[in-house]
Amino acid sequence: MSEHRTVLISGASSGIGRAITELLLAEGHRVIGIGRDFSQCAYDPHRFSAIEMDLGDIKALPAQLDALAKQHPEIDALINCAGRGQFGSLEEFSYKQIYKLMDLNFTSHAFVCKAFMPQLKQKAHSNIIFIGSEAALAGAQKGSIYCASKFALRGFAQALREESSKQGVAVSIINPGMVDTPFFDELNFRPGDDSSNAIQANDVAEAVKMILTARPGTVIDEVNLSPLKKVVQFKPKRD
Ligand SMILES: NC(=O)c1ccc[n+]([C@@H]2O[C@H](COP(=O)([O-])OP(=O)(O)OC[C@H]3O[C@@H](n4cnc5c(N)ncnc54)[C@H](OP(=O)(O)O)[C@@H]3O)[C@@H](O)[C@H]2O)c1
Repeated sequence: MSEHRTVLISGASSGIGRAITELLLAEGHRVIGIGRDFSQCAYDPHRFSAIEMDLGDIKALPAQLDALAKQHPEIDALINCAGRGQFGSLEEFSYKQIYKLMDLNFTSHAFVCKAFMPQLKQKAHSNIIFIGSEAALAGAQKGSIYCASKFALRGFAQALREESSKQGVAVSIINPGMVDTPFFDELNFRPGDDSSNAIQANDVAEAVKMILTARPGTVIDEVNLSPLKKVVQFKPKRD
C-alpha cells in the first residue's frame, strides 16, 4: 500500500483482527486497536495503540467512542471486526443473551461508525470495512440470533454505502465461512482438521488489504470467502 493510513480495528487482540493488525503494521500503517485484553499481543508500540474497551457495554460506548474520535481525528479507516459466536435454538437463549449478542455483533459497530462518520466524511478518501460472515448470507440451523446480527451488519453496510459514498467513504463487507481462530474455543463445533476445511485469518487480512488498496473511484462492496471443503466437526460433550 503506497499511502500510509491510520486504521481503527476492533477485535485487534485475536484471530482475524489480529491478522489484519499484523499485516497492516507490516505494511507501514498505524493501527489503533480496540479489545478487552491485549496481554497476548506484542505489536510495535511506535505504530500500534491499544484501546481497552468492552464493546458489549453498550450504555458506556457513546461517551467513550466520542472521546476516542476527538482524540484521533487522523483515523481514515475503520475495520469493524470484534464479535463472538453463540449458537443454539431460540428457546436456548435467554432474553438477555439475545440482546447481548446483538449489542456486540451489531449495535457496537453502528455506534463506532456513528462516532467516526463526521471525520471520515471530511477526508478525501476513507474506508469502512465490516467483518460479516457466511451467516450474513443465509440463515442456518442454531444460528437465529448470530445470523440476525450478521444480516443486520450487512444491511447496515449496504445502506451506509448508499448514504456516504458521495463524501468519499467506501463501505465494504467481508463474509468469511469458517476461519481457523479462537472463535471456536467456547463452541461445541469447529472446522475439520484438513487445511482445506478452514480459511486462515491471514486470508481475510489479504482481502482487507485488497479493499484498502483499490483505486479510490472503485468500491469493493462485498467479498465472500469459503473454505474449499466445508467440514464441521462436533466436539465431544463435556461432563
Ligand atoms: N472464526 C470464524 O469462523 C468466523 C467466520 C466468519 C466471521 N467471523 C467473525 O469475525 C470476527 C472476529 O472473530 P475471530 O474469528 O477473529 O474470533 P476471536 O479470535 O475470538 O476474536 C474475537 C475478537 O473480538 C473481540 N471482542 C469480543 N468481545 C468483545 C467485547 N465485548 N469488547 C471488545 N472486543 C471484543 C476480542 O477481543 P477481546 O477478547 O480482547 O475483548 C477479539 O479480538 C467476529 O465478528 C466473528 O463473528 C468469524
